[in-house]
Amino acid sequence: MDAVDYQQLLSDAMAAARRTVGTGRVADYIPALAAADPDAFGMALATVEGEVFGVGAWEQPFSIQSISKLFTLALVLAEGGDAVWQRVGREPSGNPFNSLVQLETEQGIPRNPFINAGAIVVTDHLHSLTGGAAHAVREFLRAESGNPMLGTDWEVAASETEHGHRNAALAHFIASHGNLLNPVETVLDEYYAHCAIAASCADLALAGRFLARYGLRADDTRLLSRSDAKRVNAVLLTCGTYDAAGEFAFRVGLPGKSGVGGGVLAILPGRAALCAWGPGLDRAGNSVGAVAALDAFTTASGLSVF
Ligand code: DON
Repeated sequence: MDAVDYQQLLSDAMAAARRTVGTGRVADYIPALAAADPDAFGMALATVEGEVFGVGAWEQPFSIQSISKLFTLALVLAEGGDAVWQRVGREPSGNPFNSLVQLETEQGIPRNPFINAGAIVVTDHLHSLTGGAAHAVREFLRAESGNPMLGTDWEVAASETEHGHRNAALAHFIASHGNLLNPVETVLDEYYAHCAIAASCADLALAGRFLARYGLRADDTRLLSRSDAKRVNAVLLTCGTYDAAGEFAFRVGLPGKSGVGGGVLAILPGRAALCAWGPGLDRAGNSVGAVAALDAFTTASGLSVF
């Protein structure tokens, strides 16, 4: 493969992110996240060969939040859970990540696995398959990142449990349509516990590498078939950044998953996984700095899926 100066590209991407400082808003609907430094930034890239590059606060853990939804979906498919596609769709919703409106007209079948409603169903499915959805995500992230310290920030999980009326409403509504297998309280506890995992840009880039490696894990065992890896990347591209997925594809041109902790994990199939982090969010709940950095990276390098 041709030589690419990833370190220089990351430095330039960070400079682009720095120009956005002050334009986003830190998520405060989960009070434990409101204390995040809005000016923080980090970015890491892990190649398919296993090299890792980083800039800024690339080793600092942050709350991964919805980035965990990528891993719950992959683990369900890895466990042979194809039946999940009878319980959740794979179309962009065009609505905010925590919206309730489509569930009413679509009989409790969420539009896709990455909006909160869909992720709640996927967590339920993973819990039934493994007996511990959040545990399965934590163990997978630890194994792929090689970081045994990675774990759930229980203060964040408790804060979301206390203020999670919207997710509780979604889960009860889904249950009313018979689309939850486990009790609502169990599913929400598991969902909050995997959202509240703290990990760094380096951890997440390493953990996302299986999608750049067409389904192969760090130890070269197969997590997903090539076809399932393609499918997860496709749903990430179309739904991973919610009602801003079109804008993200336009600017960045990579499959990606955001979280309200300010992280965005993006996949460059066959080459690398990248994670950028900055806590200031735009109105769709995606990090302003992280998206600016990924935009700068793909624009300068010409490396995207297009
Ligand atoms: O359920 C929630 O609202 C959060 N635990 C996760 C939402 C999230 O990260 C949306 N992403 N940008």
